[in-house]
Amino acid sequence: MQKLVVTGGKPLRGELSVQGSKNSALPIMAASLMCGGECRLHRCPKLTDIYAASRILNFVGCRCTFSGNSAAVDSRSIDRTEIPEELMREMRSSIIFMGAMLGTAGECTVSVPGGCELGPRPIDMHLTALKRMGVDISELSGRIVCRIPSGRAHGAKISLAFPSVGATENIILCAVTADGETVINNAAREPEICDLCGFLRACGARITGDGESRIVVKGKAKLHGCEYTIMPDRIAAATYLSMTAAAGGEIILTNACVPETEPFLSVLEQTGCSIYTGENKIYLHSGVRLRAVRERIRTMPHPGFPTDAQAVLMAALAAADGTSIFEENIFDCRYRHTDALIKMGADIQVLGKVAIVKGVRRLHGANVEATDLRGGAAMAVAALAAEGTTQITKISHIDRGYEKIEEAVSALGGDIRRA
Ligand code: EPU
Repeated sequence: MQKLVVTGGKPLRGELSVQGSKNSALPIMAASLMCGGECRLHRCPKLTDIYAASRILNFVGCRCTFSGNSAAVDSRSIDRTEIPEELMREMRSSIIFMGAMLGTAGECTVSVPGGCELGPRPIDMHLTALKRMGVDISELSGRIVCRIPSGRAHGAKISLAFPSVGATENIILCAVTADGETVINNAAREPEICDLCGFLRACGARITGDGESRIVVKGKAKLHGCEYTIMPDRIAAATYLSMTAAAGGEIILTNACVPETEPFLSVLEQTGCSIYTGENKIYLHSGVRLRAVRERIRTMPHPGFPTDAQAVLMAALAAADGTSIFEENIFDCRYRHTDALIKMGADIQVLGKVAIVKGVRRLHGANVEATDLRGGAAMAVAALAAEGTTQITKISHIDRGYEKIEEAVSALGGDIRRA
């Protein structure tokens, strides 16, 4: 099994082009099967989750190929509507194929998706909404069997109890080819939802209101292929900024999505780092010891502080001056990385959804295991700032979301290698 070996204490300096967004690319790949033609996707990150999505596409009869950071998906030859359990289990986003298959074929059989263990991750909101659009859903030997009796879903007015990203995506996908208008109230406002809608519009879909709480989709019978460039990954950006903040140094992120990263930047700035933004660029300088963040850091749906950046910022604040308090409001169990940080010398107390982080003078290297994607990235952040060497195992979690993390960090002068 591969591991990352990181020796801390070296400042990071240089320029880094931000990878394409995983959480945009995955639903967009699912959506591409609805186009009945060829889609060319640019800035597609090379990640294990992306390859898992391509395996699903190829299984149902599409032809998905890669050339560098571009993917081509030809959906003219779809001939299956079932996704086997082993492919569903590979990642959480496999559930988004449900809306796409229903919108294309009027039926699908899937199973409960896999993904990071962040506490219970039900799909009740996805299923309730799809039922309102005319989908019959039953469970048969652990499989979820979905069928639209008339072959085409109908529009509906749906109010989500919580602005779930995945449920919003599934509803949009089923709605773009449905008969009539679908209104989603309390829709997720994450930038990745806007990117999915941007892609679908390029394929001919009629969607308005994305980025706001009320999305309106006017269904149409057919979509067409298109060429599309995926947005930059705001969480990868947050991770490399946290690394530089923790280890010291200066970084220029190019290809960054600045407004979308602002909820994170406005908190990071409180640590005393200098941050400047320009068009698609973020500059950060970290010289002296970081300061704790005074305000409680509450994870919230966008435009609140992103849950996906909670762990990496916590790692940076573990050796800051003073006490920072986190409140995780999106997932029930997203503090699994704290044990590893404590092993590296951090002083963190978890009380339900609150984590109290008392900054220590310095972290030290240790042998740790990645617990999940962002938790694993947090360990890399801590390791770059720590005294001595850290070995991170179970890095398959990290590879699900970061494109060649060791190459990116080495190019900035960090001492990190894959072994
Ligand atoms: N939820 C329900 N019922 C549902 C759907 C969601 O109770 O039917 C709950 C979840 O259990 C969770 C909360 O609602 O407690 C938020 O879930 P949401 O559906 O918004 O999240 P998701 O679609 O499963 C996506 C990202 C996550 C990111 C969240 C929140 C992808 C592939 N995943 O997950 O990304 O944390 O939105 O922004 O887009 C990551 O990249 O590391 C990651 C976990």
